[in-house]
Amino acid sequence: MSAKVATEIVGLQLRNPFILAAGILGISGQTLRRVAEAGAGAVVTKSLGLEPRIGFPNPTIVETPCGLLNAMGLPNPGLGVLREEVEEARKTNVPVIASVYGCCESDYAEAASLAEKAGADAVELNVSCPHVKEVGKQIGQDPDAVASVTASVKGRVKFPVIVKLTPNVTDIVGIAKKTAEAGADAIAAINTVSGISIDIDVQRPILAAGAGGLSGPAIKPIALRCIYEIHSEVDIPLVGCGGITTWSDAVEFFLAGASAVQVGTAIMYRGLEVFSELEKGVKEYLESKRFESISQLVGLACRNGS
Ligand code: SIN
Repeated sequence: MSAKVATEIVGLQLRNPFILAAGILGISGQTLRRVAEAGAGAVVTKSLGLEPRIGFPNPTIVETPCGLLNAMGLPNPGLGVLREEVEEARKTNVPVIASVYGCCESDYAEAASLAEKAGADAVELNVSCPHVKEVGKQIGQDPDAVASVTASVKGRVKFPVIVKLTPNVTDIVGIAKKTAEAGADAIAAINTVSGISIDIDVQRPILAAGAGGLSGPAIKPIALRCIYEIHSEVDIPLVGCGGITTWSDAVEFFLAGASAVQVGTAIMYRGLEVFSELEKGVKEYLESKRFESISQLVGLACRNGS
């Protein structure tokens, strides 16, 4: 029996459910195209704002056991570059999702509208950066603010709206429910987990910004728990993100309720080959367990679990 890894999410047809996560290599049309050519099912751009932003001074990234801690400070050239990026990445026929951020509802609505006009296939609202206060903390940790941003964006654009949530809250399920009620087409979970690393020689935090966001295998169980709990309460498609490195990690996320997954830090460990490795491994798993498609896995562990 031959199993199918092609899938659909928020109306986007994906040749596989493995999506490049925001911020990793999605910094130009050429890099998005390279990732798509390496086998990603869709690509998400670096988070873009209405204006260019320099970001935080170095050091902005440090390796920790089983992960990376970053506090880049959302450096980006602004949404003005998006049309060119989309045109370049599109040469591969892979959907391009624009990640956007803002400081208030109207910023997000304007940014999403510009992303739609630039030709992106969908928008991902970054309301979850853990260390740029006015963007991540003040919006992403407030359920009503996330809902208002989502509703404003939905009122302004016609293309699909995905909202990427932060795990740095006590009740991600409550936020996910409000996000879905506000009209989001899908939820991506999770962005990075807030953390800190200290240089014992100079007795101060390594990152210039102090705290940063942890990604990679260290956060996989947290991300998986978030997807599992959200899937049990919320009825819109979920995109899993957080530490997915091997095909079996991806299978766990599908079983927990994700319809697709994003891959970021794993590229540092396994190179761009990670996309073809994930596709091959998941296809073989489906066939060995006699499933015909990924949709048959989605949420199965929640239905089988307690
Ligand atoms: C950053 O640019 O500092 C990271 C962005 C994010 O975590 O959303």
